[in-house]
Amino acid sequence: DDRRLSRIASTIRVIHDFPKPGIKFQDITTLLLDPEAFRHTIDMFVERYKDKKISVVAGVEARGFIFGPPISLAIGAKFVPLRKPKKLPGEVIAEEYSLEYGTGIMEMHVGAVHPGERALVIDDLVATGGTLAAAIRLLERVGAEVVECACVIELPELKGRERLNGKPVFVLIEAD
Ligand code: PRP
Ligand code: MG
Repeated sequence: DDRRLSRIASTIRVIHDFPKPGIKFQDITTLLLDPEAFRHTIDMFVERYKDKKISVVAGVEARGFIFGPPISLAIGAKFVPLRKPKKLPGEVIAEEYSLEYGTGIMEMHVGAVHPGERALVIDDLVATGGTLAAAIRLLERVGAEVVECACVIELPELKGRERLNGKPVFVLIEAD
């Protein structure tokens, strides 16, 4: 696993001062350029969740749409997109969450997830945790159990985990 993790870590590009001065942007598009690193990333999540009776993988727009579907297919779960507002055509439920400036809204189709389902939330990165917290609220509102959230990278100094009321977050890499 150390070999796989170092391969994954080596492919993530850090871009300074994007999108604003002082931000060190963790760019996963360079991970996607390396099929071996991308494969290791998916495999490590699949190995962790394949026997956990997950029935739904919920992916957070946009970068959770990259990692979520291959995981859902490999573990035999359905994939549910959690989208930015006004994108889903059917009836939705919505949750507001805080961004650096102002608020965001995340939506999920009504009827996509049923009470008692076991859900895994997938995104690329946990920073302040606001995004994952909104995803958890959406799934819990429809009676699903969020087994865990999983991301490729965490920015530990932002303490995003503390916003998740003890819900476990599994990450492959901690940024420094
Ligand atoms: C980024 C990232 C996570 C979120 C993490 O997404 O992909 O989804 O921020 O931040 P948080 O932990 O502070 O909530 P972003 O909203 O920039 O949009 P994108 O995925 O559509 O590019
Ligand atoms: Mg995102």
